[in-house]
Amino acid sequence: MSASEAHEPTTGSKRPVTMEKIVNLCKRRGFVFPSSDIYGGLGSTFDYGPLGVELKRNVKEAWWRDMVQRRSDVMGIDAAILMHPRTWEASGHLQNFTDPLVDCKKCKQRFRADHVAGDRCPACGGELTEARRFNLMFKTFMGPLEDSANTIYLRPETAQGIFVNFANIVDTQRVKLPFGVAQIGKSFRNEITPGNFIFRTREFEQMEMEFFVKPNEQDEARWFDYWVEFRHHWFLKYGIKADHLRLRPHGQEELSHYSRGTTDLEFQYPFGWGELEGVAKRGSYDLDQHAQFSGKELTYFDEEARERYRPWVIEPALGVDRAMLAFLLDAYDEDVVENEERIVLRLDPRLAPIKVAVFPLLRKGGQPEKAQAVREELQRHVTVAYDQAGSIGRRYRRQDEVGTPLGVTVDHQTMEDDTVTLRDRDSTQQERIPIARLAAEVSERIGGHR
Ligand code: GAP
Repeated sequence: MSASEAHEPTTGSKRPVTMEKIVNLCKRRGFVFPSSDIYGGLGSTFDYGPLGVELKRNVKEAWWRDMVQRRSDVMGIDAAILMHPRTWEASGHLQNFTDPLVDCKKCKQRFRADHVAGDRCPACGGELTEARRFNLMFKTFMGPLEDSANTIYLRPETAQGIFVNFANIVDTQRVKLPFGVAQIGKSFRNEITPGNFIFRTREFEQMEMEFFVKPNEQDEARWFDYWVEFRHHWFLKYGIKADHLRLRPHGQEELSHYSRGTTDLEFQYPFGWGELEGVAKRGSYDLDQHAQFSGKELTYFDEEARERYRPWVIEPALGVDRAMLAFLLDAYDEDVVENEERIVLRLDPRLAPIKVAVFPLLRKGGQPEKAQAVREELQRHVTVAYDQAGSIGRRYRRQDEVGTPLGVTVDHQTMEDDTVTLRDRDSTQQERIPIARLAAEVSERIGGHR
């Protein structure tokens, strides 16, 4: 966690998007719902609907593909959320994972002291209490006895699941430095001021990678620069706009307790610049701590140098939900097609929840049956929507609004020559192609990914 989440006002952005438009679109079209909606929601927790879950999976798959599967120096794990309570003593989270909390004496609202400018309540101008430290970890009990001996925590970062498995990885995987271990999974933080939709919530998902390097400043600096650059490029590759992304090194005073240096990749949200991802130099802090608390060695044997040491760590850490918000914000656009305004999500086809929509132009003449057959064939390869309700223009708009990159229309000519029209979401251009070539053409246009 970092204090870097302080916001500056947005400067002169001409983006059509606002948080309100994204929140409304997400609810209206089934991307994101307030959690426990029928009970009025539960403070800043959200459920992902049918389209949201596909988008989220695609974001995670893109990350996993590029960070793990397409590399030979990174492997994955999937550790438990519930961990031995000593983990959090060793990691320093019990002691240090706190935010300064202030209360307003007048209106009783709570704030993070580092989010309040001045010494008065930002809501009512009332007097604030002295700041006190508030630990962000959720506590629960393991087993039937609810006492301190059985207290455990929901993990506040996935990273510790990697550090406590360091010896298991080294002993079983024939690794050679530098190497990384990656993980995607849920984390929990009892944030004092969650908000801005899925930007800051109490239950969220992280994609983190601990990259172990030789313990010297040269290797550390080289790999730190490499990962900052790699992660920066990754966002651009999947559609984040270059001028909405910037790097911000942390000042000494805002570094997390484990960090020797952190650079945030900040995104320009409609509410201002804020952290999207953090890349941190964790040194050997975590392995040292776990070695001390567990009594295990947690070292690496360097065959070439014939020496044993604890590697240092570079950690790129990203929130899935926050990444999804950034991709949605930068994909959102409004334009005019054939004199009609439309909302279009220009999502990278690899991230789009639905890849192709299939439409019969008319609900007669065998067109619906033919279109269903086309849907069935395409659905063997990609996610497909089928829609025969309303005018064809309206059906196109419905798919544009959820970011479906391609539309296939079956019309009377299809019934004669087995060709369909293929429409591109962004250009709205249509091309007639034989059904026999459709699956290959679709696969090529969406980047070969499902
Ligand atoms: N292991 C390092 C770590 O957890 P962090 O900067 O606290 O570092 C990493 O978190 C990323 O996780 C952040 O850049 C952000 O994308 C995401 N994240 C952190 N807290 C979050 C929250 N309350 N809600 C949503 N995403 C969050």
